[in-house]
Amino acid sequence: MTKKRILSGVQPTGSLHIGNWLGAIRNWVELQKEYDTYVCVVDLHAITVPHNAEKLKSDTLSTAALYVACGMDPRECSIFIQSHIPAHSELCWLLNCVTPLNWMERMIQFKEKALKQGDNVSLGLLDYPVLMAADILLYDADLVPVGEDQKQHLELARDIAQQRINSRFSKNNNPILKVPKPLILKEGAKIMSLCDGKNKMSKSDPNENSRIGLLDDPDAIQKKIKKAKTDPHFGLEFSNPERPESDNLLGIYSMVTNQSREKVAEECSEIGWGKFKPLLTDAVITSLQPIQQKYNDLIKDPSELNRILKEGTNNAKTLSGHTLQRVREALGFLETINI
Ligand code: TYM
Repeated sequence: MTKKRILSGVQPTGSLHIGNWLGAIRNWVELQKEYDTYVCVVDLHAITVPHNAEKLKSDTLSTAALYVACGMDPRECSIFIQSHIPAHSELCWLLNCVTPLNWMERMIQFKEKALKQGDNVSLGLLDYPVLMAADILLYDADLVPVGEDQKQHLELARDIAQQRINSRFSKNNNPILKVPKPLILKEGAKIMSLCDGKNKMSKSDPNENSRIGLLDDPDAIQKKIKKAKTDPHFGLEFSNPERPESDNLLGIYSMVTNQSREKVAEECSEIGWGKFKPLLTDAVITSLQPIQQKYNDLIKDPSELNRILKEGTNNAKTLSGHTLQRVREALGFLETINI
């Protein structure tokens, strides 16, 4: 039986945080054993807001290294850089021309990010979800493992594939594009800011103390957790709407210690914040230590990483090339002339 396929990616904008890990990458690591897995560093997405060219290079390499350091195994999956496969940009253009503008204006993340950009909103920012649809649809992905914040973008990808390509251009009921489904696991799907349990942890938050970076050293982790927002109650608990910080930090503790929510809720119900914070600090440091160790080895000698990316790129090129050809044919483009 052929394996079902998954595809996902992270933007190389600044350093990755534990939300990216617990909400996405850690799930990929589990899924790669069961699924035909493609993961890319979505560098074309990173320039939809003003960016620093030199930093983009190092952030792209660093993100790829983190995939491997977190446990993505090149024997089980294909890892590649989005911009190394020109088919992403080409399919994006084809999808642009069939996607209604008012679908794009509804996107929540666009509205949020546009607000921050003031007068400097690029057309690319508006088009971002179509590029994301191209990323997914090119690989005939069955499932897309992401955090909660990407749900609306996934719905758009499904609508474009189904309503704008398959139902308009398919012949004899043979779908041109596979309609993907989101895969959002309940736990970790939305890790919140350390400074405000009602706001998502985000790479673009100007306050560094709001997130724990995957590459933060123990000292920084300790300081950030020490400063993390608390509440006046004694004992930690889940799901109390008046205690979002307790829910968030206890959730992180449960995930990084690989213990059930019931177990940690019991362990921490009778301790105050003063005792809980050092526990959480140690657990976070311990869970990140092997990732950081592997990351440092990979970055010291990038030849191994380059080999991994080369292999991933080859696999991605072949698969995406077939899909792009299918779409080109369906939309009526003349066959390419081989010179
Ligand atoms: P990005 O780079 O913002 O985030 C990468 C992944 O991390 C998840 N995530 C979180 N999960 C839980 N809690 C959080 N606080 C948190 N913050 C981020 C995101 O949901 C995501 O899964 N548009 C995407 C990148 C992308 C993509 C794709 C993803 C481009 N093309 C194709 C999947 C398939 C993004 O900006 O993710």
